[in-house]
Amino acid sequence: MNAVIFGLQWGDEGKGKITTKLSRDFDFVVRYSGGSNAGHTVEYPDFKLIHHLVPSFDVRANVKGYISNGVVVDLGVLKREIEELMSKGIEVENRLFISNLCHVVLPFHKLLDEKLESVKGSKAVGTTKRGIGPSYADKAHRVGLRLCDFENEIILDEKLEFIAMFYESVYDISDISFDEVLHDYQYISKFVISPIQFRKDYRDASLLFEGTQGVLLDVDVGTYPYVTSSYCSTSGVEAGFGFPVTVDKKIGVFKAYLTRVGEGPFPTELYGSEGEVLRRVGGEYGATTGRPRRCGWLDLPLLRYAIEVSGCDEMIITKADVLSGFEYVKVGVNYRLAGRKLEMPYNLQVLSEVEVDYVKLPGWKNLEDSNFDGFLKFIESEVGCKITMVSTGPRVDDIVER
Ligand code: IMP
Repeated sequence: MNAVIFGLQWGDEGKGKITTKLSRDFDFVVRYSGGSNAGHTVEYPDFKLIHHLVPSFDVRANVKGYISNGVVVDLGVLKREIEELMSKGIEVENRLFISNLCHVVLPFHKLLDEKLESVKGSKAVGTTKRGIGPSYADKAHRVGLRLCDFENEIILDEKLEFIAMFYESVYDISDISFDEVLHDYQYISKFVISPIQFRKDYRDASLLFEGTQGVLLDVDVGTYPYVTSSYCSTSGVEAGFGFPVTVDKKIGVFKAYLTRVGEGPFPTELYGSEGEVLRRVGGEYGATTGRPRRCGWLDLPLLRYAIEVSGCDEMIITKADVLSGFEYVKVGVNYRLAGRKLEMPYNLQVLSEVEVDYVKLPGWKNLEDSNFDGFLKFIESEVGCKITMVSTGPRVDDIVER
């Protein structure tokens, strides 16, 4: 059986922890999209891991990780992550595999990311500045560097020379040093594998695909242009894995409220002290950049849309525990423009102008409170999808089935 776990919002839904918890039932966790812009926090009883590139497999269980071709890899970040795992006595060799078709994030991709954001001015996306967009752009421009290019020194030298020329001519970025990348590759090389070899060795393995970011940040179906540059919705699984694959279950994760980092419309956003309360109780600061996240109430038109475009089969709710003790919670149920109801609009100008109809629901003392069950049933009936599990706290094992 294969499954995918993915975010139904703008990322930061707590997918990492859920992936880790469910990974015990699979042979592999496969990262299929994004890069080190992701920051999946996993709290074990004795330590905490933030996965940027290493798939969120349960380090205590018999499960492995594969980074497939849809991911862009920052070798320095990956090296540090592997070193951290090893320093904790966690076995990584023969447990982590990286496709040699992965594109490599180079130092000047980060420079270009900053430059593009600054040129965009008030239209900046608010990227993580990890060089992710420029790396995917190089892939599309057919000038990107892949891990397989490191296998032959002559080809590698030619490629690096060409890339340096390309960046100087097109972006006026020069004095590029590849020393660090070459050094980091030496460390990473033992984990690199050809996808055909991976397929041959693990043809019958059960795969848990780990989505990054969220459906609303997908480059095609998200709130473009305020999105990331990869196919992080479920439609990215096959392209990102590189082989046709049957995904038996699509499990969407959503938070009991809503957050977003970076720019773009956010109809249920709370400002001032109201937003601050959610930020404080939820500890809403980016795992990758430390930026304060924008916070607001749960938005059902966006959730309905994300369920529809992702083909979500079932949902897991996270962070409802942090709302325990609130007198009430609000849920955005409909959008309205000039008095008329409308579905999630593709036109972002419209999305930034909609008014939201809210329903106010009684708060809960704890997750056993019948008010909380009422909240879950309300969401299920509004969006037409079942909530099968509830995350009850920050640690890996804090999760219950319904
Ligand atoms: P980029 O992926 O760094 O290009 O950033 C594009 C947009 O996606 C920005 O709004 C980022 O804040 C957002 N983003 C990227 N990765 C994540 C993530 O892991 N969680 C939440 N937002 C993200």
